[in-house]
Amino acid sequence: MNTGHPILQVQGLSRAFGGILALNNVTFDVQEGEILGIIGPNGSGKTTLINCITGFVKKTSGQVFFKGKDISGKPPHKIADMGITRTFQIMRPYYSLPAYKNLVIPLFSPRAKRTGGWRGGGRLGDRNTVGIDILEEMGFERDSFVPYKMASNLPTGYLKRLELARCLALKPEIILCDEVFSGLSMSEIASMVPLIERLQMDGITLIMIEHRLRELFLVTDRVMVLNFGEKLMEGSAEAVMTDDKVKEAYFGSEKIEEILGDA
Ligand SMILES: Nc1ncnc2c1ncn2[C@@H]1O[C@H](COP(=O)(O)OP(=O)(O)OP(=O)(O)O)[C@@H](O)[C@H]1O
Ligand SMILES: [Mg+2]
Repeated sequence: MNTGHPILQVQGLSRAFGGILALNNVTFDVQEGEILGIIGPNGSGKTTLINCITGFVKKTSGQVFFKGKDISGKPPHKIADMGITRTFQIMRPYYSLPAYKNLVIPLFSPRAKRTGGWRGGGRLGDRNTVGIDILEEMGFERDSFVPYKMASNLPTGYLKRLELARCLALKPEIILCDEVFSGLSMSEIASMVPLIERLQMDGITLIMIEHRLRELFLVTDRVMVLNFGEKLMEGSAEAVMTDDKVKEAYFGSEKIEEILGDA
């Protein structure tokens, strides 16, 4: 539930790679409990934004505040320990481990020990069982062989769910999702949407980067558009999609119609 209080405040965030300004003075707030969509053409700086917020890439300038505390410049493990988690556009499971063992590893983190992991209520039970519990919440059928499959043998739909499950092992306050719908079929996305909605109902704040706009708009409260590293606009899905600057950024109105589809 959106509480109306900012949980994350990004102020003037910039990152240069040599001569390329991948992020240029980006400022925005995320309200506690909301789902903020972030869209923009390829190379517009979306992943760099997540990388800078979560400490995987150092900012060139600007600040990020979590609940009023400046977290910019902190290393990724410190930021994750505060409950700010992320998925990867190029998925990063431990491929040679079974799916549930991929969760046992983050369940050894200090935050998981402190919190008990997702649903742990401060007590961490047997890590294997907790790992399977979390996978089940993310749509892995508990009594099937899927949680025990090597991650290298999982289809994309399950790997995307595994990325989210790994965040849940840390009992996150925020999940930054980098294209969790990409590579999925319409029916796979349709089964993932209720999972995302449940995370929001459970009080997690979500930032969702997506190219799958129509599907994204099913879940977002608000959308921000990046273009060439700059914030182009933010507003409701409808406001964003009817904005001429946004249509221009997506190379013309036909292209945006194509992205939205006519379903
Ligand atoms: N490590 C890096 N070294 C050099 N340039 C980089 C690096 N990471 C990103 N860039 C550049 O920064 C710009 C923004 O890239 P970024 O990956 O953030 O875009 P994106 O919006 O996530 O794109 P996509 O939709 O294709 O995932 C691009 O021009 C990219 O080539
Ligand atoms: Mg990206």
